[in-house]
Amino acid sequence: MQDKIHPVPAGWAESARVDDAAYQAMYQEALADPNGFWGRQAARLDWLKPFTKVKNTSYAPGAVSIKWFEDGALNVSANCVDRHVEARGDKVAILWEGDDPSESRRITYRELHREVQVFANVLLSLGVEKGDRVTLYMPMIPEAAFAMLACARIGAIHSVVFGGFSPDSLAGRISDCHSKLVITADEGVRGGRKVPLKHNTDLALTKTIGEEKVLVVRRTGAEVAMHAGRDFWYHEVAATVSEVCPPAEMNAEDPLFILYTSGSTGRPKGVLHTSGGYLLWASLTHELVFDLKEDDVFWCTADVGWVTGHSYIVYGPLANGATTVMFEGVPNYPSVSRCWEVIDKHAITIFYTAPTALRALMQAGDEPVKKTSRASLRLLGSVGEPINPEAWEWYWRVVGEGRCPIVDTWWQTETGGILISPLPGATDLKPGSATRPFFGVQPAIVDGEGNILEGATEGNLVLLDSWPGQMRTVYGDHERFEQTYFSTYKNMYFTGDGCRRDADGYYWITGRVDDVINVSGHRMGTAEVESALVSHPKVSEAAVVGYPHDIKGQGIYAYVTLMKGEAGSDALKKELVGWVRAEIGPIASPDLIQFAPGLPKTRSGKIMRRILRKIAEDEYGSLGDTSTLADPAVVDDLVANRQNRK
Ligand code: WTA
Repeated sequence: MQDKIHPVPAGWAESARVDDAAYQAMYQEALADPNGFWGRQAARLDWLKPFTKVKNTSYAPGAVSIKWFEDGALNVSANCVDRHVEARGDKVAILWEGDDPSESRRITYRELHREVQVFANVLLSLGVEKGDRVTLYMPMIPEAAFAMLACARIGAIHSVVFGGFSPDSLAGRISDCHSKLVITADEGVRGGRKVPLKHNTDLALTKTIGEEKVLVVRRTGAEVAMHAGRDFWYHEVAATVSEVCPPAEMNAEDPLFILYTSGSTGRPKGVLHTSGGYLLWASLTHELVFDLKEDDVFWCTADVGWVTGHSYIVYGPLANGATTVMFEGVPNYPSVSRCWEVIDKHAITIFYTAPTALRALMQAGDEPVKKTSRASLRLLGSVGEPINPEAWEWYWRVVGEGRCPIVDTWWQTETGGILISPLPGATDLKPGSATRPFFGVQPAIVDGEGNILEGATEGNLVLLDSWPGQMRTVYGDHERFEQTYFSTYKNMYFTGDGCRRDADGYYWITGRVDDVINVSGHRMGTAEVESALVSHPKVSEAAVVGYPHDIKGQGIYAYVTLMKGEAGSDALKKELVGWVRAEIGPIASPDLIQFAPGLPKTRSGKIMRRILRKIAEDEYGSLGDTSTLADPAVVDDLVANRQNRK
């Protein structure tokens, strides 16, 4: 079957920053001479001390090391703020849209410059020093960006924790990196509801060493407990500090941030990104993938708690002097037209969102979209999970009215920014394909043994060489970094994703091939949900798998074995869902729970997840060989009581 192709729209090749010939030439250039290519690209940043070395990277077993521009120095906040003040002082840097449609704020580059310096001085006055870790547990308000940039300004390492995570999850992340300070707000506001961020922080801090300070930004004015000597109101400290804070000189390889993300095993890992290579990657990909022009108004709907928010709300757009939209709310509040109304209200030109949001909005029909103008839109983007061709076509036809290219961008927390994506003036589009690699990205598809497969093929996606935005290590655990990404296949970075390449060389990401599930574009480790479930007193064992879900992409299916004498009931299911929400956060809520007297295990006690996945998918007719199971009879019970019946 021929894939449907949407050619580069008329006029785009001429006006876009990169056309197909330029793409081909630049791709080859980066491949042939990475030092020359990236040395030249890095001139887009302002360096305090020029680098003499560009690439110094190794994927060699036992000696993985990734360094870019290692003897250069710069300051990320100066690159995102200070250098724009002269030419773009009155340009809006952050355009904030509140949860309540009547609230918005416009912060110019000049104002941002002031805010970041004040915030940086507040951090200094609380004793935060270069290299210290600072945890942010913030709602989507401009102060979240000020705080990130303030950390960057003084060389503190931020770790943003999504505001939807539970106190326990927050505590684990504060402890793992020994944060000195937690920045939060009294409350967050989302979809008309209040989120008790300060209260959650108080609960989290009962489970840490207890030496952290807390800085509280006032958002709703709610009354919150303040512990003397530990908790400080931002506005009170801000009133006492200077408005001038010079940026610290940071080495290109000094850490910029840690971001915790789920993997196949164990607790979330602290993905560490450094300063020079990361900022170069965020800024260059933001400019070229989104064909950024001076007058664009760019809206990425992610939360700053995820990497997409880091790279494409804060660092990429601000490094480029763009206007970046920050949205506090959710796509369906107060109505399912909200996104399109916001686009009209602020004349947004580029819109970047996740397939899960599109699928949910698509269900409400075309009318809520069509009643808005969207005339300002010129480019659409997708990120976070595979986009099904049906949602792609709806995005193209209804939202973009056939005039806006769609960039389906594949990347990961670990990659720092976009790695595989169309460039809108260069790449013919195929719905559902992330298309071609960005400059410096060398994807390959391998079989189970790590043999590189050529031509049109399918297998596991690896990357053969480093790019400047690549994560440098797992915070505090370099061995885990090597083990997780470089031990499956020697001398290659393993992405954890399955992938197909077609005859045109286009890449189609098929989803995770490890024990990570992607729920509404959020990564969740099945092991994390299992460990939350087994911590419930009535649960003896649990196994969690993903299954196809119409809106979320994947849903969470939990098989639960109860303690002897306990009986399964709907009430207990509810209790377990509530338990997992409290342990991890609402995004980890199981969609389906099946009580299972036994789990399918090999004689050596290993759970055969393949079988559990099949049953969860309602594909119980094709379970394959079950003869190696210790007790093949458990399968009959699992099939008979399956929860997902199509
Ligand atoms: C998935 C989000 C298909 C993929 C930026 C990856 C995608 C994981 C796409 C990383 C896409 C992200 N098409 N799958 N365009 N973008 N993914 O770390 O499985 O939250 O490994 O980073 O999301 O999720 P993460």
